[in-house]
Amino acid sequence: MRIDIISAVPDLLSSPLNTSIIKRSQDKKLVEIFVHDIRDYATDKHKTIDDKPFGGGAGMLLKPEPIFSCIKKLQSEREYQHIIFTTPRGKILEQTDANRFSLAKNIIILAGHYKGIDERVIEEFVTDEISIGKYVLSGGELPALIMVDVIVRIIPGVLNDSESALLDSFMDSDRIEPPFYTRPANLNGKNVPEILLSGNTKKINEWKEEQSQLLTKKWKKINRLE
Ligand code: ADE
Repeated sequence: MRIDIISAVPDLLSSPLNTSIIKRSQDKKLVEIFVHDIRDYATDKHKTIDDKPFGGGAGMLLKPEPIFSCIKKLQSEREYQHIIFTTPRGKILEQTDANRFSLAKNIIILAGHYKGIDERVIEEFVTDEISIGKYVLSGGELPALIMVDVIVRIIPGVLNDSESALLDSFMDSDRIEPPFYTRPANLNGKNVPEILLSGNTKKINEWKEEQSQLLTKKWKKINRLE
């Protein structure tokens, strides 16, 4: 899979893309990730990428032409199944969206910045407008990184066996995991639940299922999902 990220602030992206599981997925050649700086596509001598909105209003917009050139260049080189724009007005991201995106061969993630981008960019190219939650961030770069993470980790071979096993139970996003504990069994008087030390697998699994159901119920309540 190939992911092209288009951004006005590429520096925000470099460290997370070159660390941990996302780095490993690239080292293993399971994913190729390229970052494109919108400024490289500006044509005037000041490398202008933003401008005032027509009709007034606060804030600056990303100019359309540099983004048009960047996307047109990428599209002349290969076909993209999804051109995703990160924006608070988009569909709120869920695991099922990530599953769908991860099946693509090539995707572009366009990170919004400033007040937004010229609407004509969206009309011309964007296939999916995605929000990562009901709050407004100062730019689309962090959402773009979240999209990369959620997509990349489900590509077969990216996670090792134990990480994948963990992922399987998280795939059902309406099911919350039971609490986990590691050594020491007694931490300054705070003990790990006795059942987990019992060695009785059947009882342990029943306890985990019960805890999972309790936490799922609580999670639905605090998120007003029922
Ligand atoms: N840009 C700013 N806020 C955002 C959000 N919540 N989701 C996606 N992109 C954004």
